[in-house]
Amino acid sequence: MQVVPLTGVLGAEVTGVDLADDLSDAQVAELRAAICAHQVVIVPGQRLDPDAQSRFTRRLGPPGPTNFVDPIPGHPDVILVLKTEDEADAFNFGGVWHSDWSFMPEPPSFTVLHAIDVPPYGGDTIWSSMVAAAALLDEDTRTALDGVTAVHTARDAYSPKMAAIHAGLKHMSVRTDESANEEHRHPLLVRHPETGREVLFFNSAYVRDLDGTDDPAPLLRRLHTISTDVRITVRHHWRNGDVAIWDNRSTQHLALNDYAGFRRQLHRTTVGGTAPVASA
Ligand code: SIN
Repeated sequence: MQVVPLTGVLGAEVTGVDLADDLSDAQVAELRAAICAHQVVIVPGQRLDPDAQSRFTRRLGPPGPTNFVDPIPGHPDVILVLKTEDEADAFNFGGVWHSDWSFMPEPPSFTVLHAIDVPPYGGDTIWSSMVAAAALLDEDTRTALDGVTAVHTARDAYSPKMAAIHAGLKHMSVRTDESANEEHRHPLLVRHPETGREVLFFNSAYVRDLDGTDDPAPLLRRLHTISTDVRITVRHHWRNGDVAIWDNRSTQHLALNDYAGFRRQLHRTTVGGTAPVASA
C-alpha cells in the first residue's frame, strides 16, 4: 500500500490496494491508520458493486445509519447520491459544509464514497481539517468556547418544512420527518478516539445553536469562518472508480454543484461511531 499526501494539512492518495479483495486484517489496519492520520484518503481505480462496497465498509466497523435517505433497494447500507443531466437546479445533496450525520447521538466515524459515473469537470468535493481548525483557534475564541456546547440537529435539512426542496430530486429518495427536529448536544473541542488529537467538532449545517452563551450567532459565524479556511482544505476532482474514505470525526466537507448538463452518481456507505468526548 502506498500513501502519498495530497497537501501538507490533510488528504492522501492510497494505491496498491484493491478494496474488492478479501483484505487481511493487517491491510485493513494499515488503511484505517492512513485514514485517521490523513483524515481523507482517495483510492483510485476501484470497482465495487454495492455488495462489495458494503462488505469493504463493514471491515472498518458496523454500518452507520441511513435515516432520511432511502438506501438502494436490496442494499440496506448503501445510499445513492445522484443527479442526472437534467437536474442542474435540483437540491445539491451534501452541498453545504457538514460532517455526516453529526446530529446523531453517536455520529458515524467514517464515510466511504465511490464514484460510479461522474462529470468530466465540476462536482468536486472539498474537505476541511477540523484538527487544523482546532489549532487555528486563538486564545480569545478558546476562552469564548469555555462552558459552551454545540446543539446539533437535522431540522434545517430533513424536517418536514424541507420536503419541497428535496422533492425536486428525481432519483434520490430523501425522506423528511419529525425526528429531524431532535437535538443532540456534543462538545465543541473533542479528543479524537483513535489519534488522540484535539478536534473542533463543528459544522454549520447541523450545529444550529450553542448552549452556554447568550449570544450564539457571532460565535457560530466565527467557528464557521475558521473551520472552512481555505488553508486547511483539500479539493478532489472525481474520476470514475475513485473511492474517498473520510473521517467524520476530524473533517467536514461539501459537494460542489457546478456540473450542469452532466450526470454525477456516487454510492455512499458509512461506519457507525461513538459519542464525541470532550478534550478537556
Ligand atoms: C455527502 O455529503 O455525503 C456527499 C458528498 C458528495 O457528493 O461529494
